[in-house]
Amino acid sequence: MDKVAARQEAGRLRAEINRHNRLYYVEARPVISDYEFDRLLERLIAIEREHPDLVTPDSPSQRVGGEVTKVFPVVAHREPMLSLANTYSLEEVADFCRRVEKLVEAEGGRDPEFVAELKFDGVAVSLLYRDGVLVRGATRGDGRQGDDITANLRTIPSIPLRIEAPGGPLFGAPSGEVEVRGEVFMRKEDFGKLNDARPEEDRFANPRNATAGTLKLQDSSEVARRRMSFVAYFLTGGDDGRTPHLHRLRQLEVMGFATGGNYRLCKGADEIASFIGEWSEKRWRLPYETDGVVLKLNDTTLWDRIGATAKSPRWAIAYKYPAQQAKTVLRDVVFQVGRLGTITPVAELEPVRLAGSTVSRSTLHNFDEIGRLGVRIGDRVMIEKSGEVIPKVVGVVLDERPEAAVAIRVPESCPECGAALVRPEGEVGFYCPDEEGCPAQKRGRILHFASRNAMDIQNLGESLVAQLVDRGLVGDPGDLYRLEKPQVEGLERMGAKSAQNLLDSLDESRKRGYDRLLYALGIRHVGQATARELAHAYPSLEQLRQAGAEELAAVPDIGPVVAASIRDFFTRGWVLTMLDKLRDAGLPLKAGGAKELVNRNFEGLSVIFTGGLERHDRQRASELVLERGGRVVTSVSKKTSIVVAGSEAGSKLDKALKLGVRVIDEEEFEKML
Ligand code: IVH
Repeated sequence: MDKVAARQEAGRLRAEINRHNRLYYVEARPVISDYEFDRLLERLIAIEREHPDLVTPDSPSQRVGGEVTKVFPVVAHREPMLSLANTYSLEEVADFCRRVEKLVEAEGGRDPEFVAELKFDGVAVSLLYRDGVLVRGATRGDGRQGDDITANLRTIPSIPLRIEAPGGPLFGAPSGEVEVRGEVFMRKEDFGKLNDARPEEDRFANPRNATAGTLKLQDSSEVARRRMSFVAYFLTGGDDGRTPHLHRLRQLEVMGFATGGNYRLCKGADEIASFIGEWSEKRWRLPYETDGVVLKLNDTTLWDRIGATAKSPRWAIAYKYPAQQAKTVLRDVVFQVGRLGTITPVAELEPVRLAGSTVSRSTLHNFDEIGRLGVRIGDRVMIEKSGEVIPKVVGVVLDERPEAAVAIRVPESCPECGAALVRPEGEVGFYCPDEEGCPAQKRGRILHFASRNAMDIQNLGESLVAQLVDRGLVGDPGDLYRLEKPQVEGLERMGAKSAQNLLDSLDESRKRGYDRLLYALGIRHVGQATARELAHAYPSLEQLRQAGAEELAAVPDIGPVVAASIRDFFTRGWVLTMLDKLRDAGLPLKAGGAKELVNRNFEGLSVIFTGGLERHDRQRASELVLERGGRVVTSVSKKTSIVVAGSEAGSKLDKALKLGVRVIDEEEFEKML
């Protein structure tokens, strides 16, 4: 492509990609599939690779990251980033209204209006646009200065790299400096996916921690993979400084920012109280976490005159929803043994209703936590659910402690295998040291190996694994592939059919890629992303086994702790034996075996194409299914999952309809991709 055509095509692709980004992330109504979107981006990147001088700083290709920042430079904020005074009481909110009314009256005004907004539970950042282009993004830091994390923030699709709509209703063209403040957060769904892909021992407690941790990463391409979002709630610059806050929010939307849209102009404490009341329930249905309501005086010309205390402005306040609590009895504490030997105390509670579900168990995390709570068995305890997290014990009702309450003792030996527990220096946890013999660790390792993001072995649940281990049929994941049908048939609740299903699933799992296997091995601190990096750097397990700690630590995403853990893993005798078994079973101990899937939307499904397809030829359509974990078959039977019927489909369609097989058209197929 010549330069002129390339420039034109790049411009067209950028506009198209920006439009789809906005539809997806800001307006939440995508009109093309992820696949189509990726194709647009790939084309743009290809053109820019061919003509590097055409790359612009606001090109969507610049969102994929790649920049590695060793130390974030510290930058001063134009205006201090204040935080807000918090309250949990509606009365204090009413006091706030009265206070502001007085201050406003002193300035010659009356009946002030407030904008009520949701309080997003994430991390506050400031974005600076110069002549419409994003030039700097920073954390709040101590309020006066923060870290320059521009490279990381650029990867967030809902942060416009360029303010798109100059000359909105009130603001002029975005010349000069415009500052936008808002919250970076992770949607519940994106948080779930991120955590699922991480090893158990490294999971984030909640979306906010995940967001804060991600913003601090040095490698912006990892940040890009983690899917974060941004909502804007504050705009300065670009106008005469008199635009009311409500209009600034609208202006932010015109500029291409998401605001969440759930704000309202309120007059007086009663209207504010009803907004708070309305959202106390509705907020649970939002795709992200909120923890309260923020109230801001709408008339921004009064902000400076009313002023601020050292920490927070007098013209705004945050009302926080109280966490949902319930009182119940701690019946007992049991000790669970994880796949890495960690002992976790778990509270068994008298079942109680809390925030829409019945709670009868809750983790006590570790023994320090028990000490901190001072809790005994038999105590009345308070449990709490905040955000989406699982309930936790937050306190003891000491007045109601029964005489018979007994202290919780740290077990001396493993409840599963009896080995004496150890507590490594400097750690809060106790461990069962018998990696090789402890049945709980064996079960945990096998279940991890079989889990969805690892080898995805269907039909291998907890009770089956427990039986296999108890009977000595399976001691490590390598043994799974040596199982024979009669052995499985003899187990409880298993018959010929379910035994065959298990063996088929095991067979199927041999096709997973090398990087999946690396993750499935369950090396401490090696999650999916790390496993992928390792697979890339060491295309065979043998090479990985021989890598030194220093060499490992040079791989992106791998620090000294992970490197040491990998080294340690390969020194274990049982590990080497297990690897031999896996090799014998024909599992991919090197790269290039099975291909990485695009996604798993067709996993476990058999698909038939019939009739004429318009968007893809048959060959490509089949590839699309294979790349998504499905199979393509040629004759219809009761076992067929889906028939994709194109124009003038004939006998196969008739047969599918007769057998009650699901039939879809090309459009629906496209959606499924
Ligand atoms: S306004 C001076 N609006 O809450 C105004 N903050 O405790 C400062 N937050 O640091 C912020 N949602 O991280 C504002 N709609 C919202 C908010 C919001 C969440 C956070 C923000 C701030 C903290 C204040």
